[in-house]
Amino acid sequence: MSDLHSLYLPCPRGLEQALLDEIRDIDGCTARLESSHHAGVALRGSLRDVMLLNLHSRIASRVLLRIAQAPVAQADDVYRLALRQPWERWFDATRTLRVDVTAERSPLPSLHFAILRAKDGVCDHFRLRDGQRPSVARENPDVRIHLHLDASNALLYLDTSGEALFKRGWRAAHGEAPLKENLAAGLLRLSGWTPQAVLYDPFCGAGTIAIEAAQMACRVAPGLQRGFGFERLQGFDAAQWRQLREQAQAARRDAPAPIIAADIDPRMVRLSQDNAQRAGVEDALQLRQGDALEGAPPLQLAPGQSGWVLSNPPYAERIEAKGSQAQDFLARLGDRLKQRFTGWNAALLLADLRAERGLGLKASRRHVLYNGPIECRLFTFALVAGRPPRKPMAEAAGTAPGESQ
Ligand SMILES: C[S@@+](CC[C@H](N)C(=O)[O-])C[C@H]1O[C@@H](n2cnc3c(N)ncnc32)[C@H](O)[C@@H]1O
Repeated sequence: MSDLHSLYLPCPRGLEQALLDEIRDIDGCTARLESSHHAGVALRGSLRDVMLLNLHSRIASRVLLRIAQAPVAQADDVYRLALRQPWERWFDATRTLRVDVTAERSPLPSLHFAILRAKDGVCDHFRLRDGQRPSVARENPDVRIHLHLDASNALLYLDTSGEALFKRGWRAAHGEAPLKENLAAGLLRLSGWTPQAVLYDPFCGAGTIAIEAAQMACRVAPGLQRGFGFERLQGFDAAQWRQLREQAQAARRDAPAPIIAADIDPRMVRLSQDNAQRAGVEDALQLRQGDALEGAPPLQLAPGQSGWVLSNPPYAERIEAKGSQAQDFLARLGDRLKQRFTGWNAALLLADLRAERGLGLKASRRHVLYNGPIECRLFTFALVAGRPPRKPMAEAAGTAPGESQ
């Protein structure tokens, strides 16, 4: 059996290249790109790579290991494909099992039925072979099988992650409209922030962006606090896994620059504090309660130091709240960035695609992202000195997006 496997790592849409950059930076990972997709990347890698990717990737949602692929025209083809795979290579009939499905332009009329047929195929494989079949468990199964259906094919994967990778194990409760951890990690990568620069999230909510940043800065691997599906698979190399975890633990260091998070709501500040503590980075984070639209910046940048305001402000998700309140908020935020954050960079995730006009700032980059189903932009701004004052609203209203100052 080949030592290399075809892997597929789904990720939030818009973060495919950021995921590839991240994988390239994982020490010791030898997985190579096979192809880049919409919301995922296909790699070829070893079981050691599978462990490393699960342990270190902040952006991937899962690490799937391909078992089979074949053309299918009906659900019974899925059954036959599942029936003939040598599943005993990975688990035995005493294990509990769950099958999930994703589909893109699949002609099969019922995805639920496709799941049932895949499950029947796996179970009948063991029944015919051993006279015993695995049982199905929705909650906490030993083995997760992932079925993907495209316009003409079925692909069967083993889900080596188990729970989705954005579940790091540190979030106990969340605030209003929290970002998924892997989207927050993607924002940090796309923004251009590096751990040598100051990071400030003035609308921190549950602290997701700042905690991800603190773990990156302190070199705390995102998977150190959780278990993975591959640990329950046959042939799992426990000694190698222990070694990889120990190497990850030994990489820990202090954050090289301040990471500051604030929220107007004191409950959010406490929540961020609790989450940071569970994530093991409370020492790297400075948490404050305050109104982002008032007061002084959290610190003055030292000569040669760079700083990033990175946030998903309110109104980023609630697209229905597009009234004058949201416009007024954006205008005040834009004025504040221009007046008080000269010399900083800013990266804001906003669902308002014309937000540049509202902010009165012209972005140097706009990255298309999806926060769940909501299309957003990560707008990046270099806040240089000497910006002209804001145009009156009536005049600005005639300006096309991207032309506003
Ligand atoms: C979209 S949420 C941020 C979610 C956060 N990224 C997370 O993952 O949990 C926006 C946050 O901004 C806070 N907020 C609203 N107005 C604010 C203001 N003027 N100053 C500071 N925080 C504010 C809210 O309390 C809320 O927690």
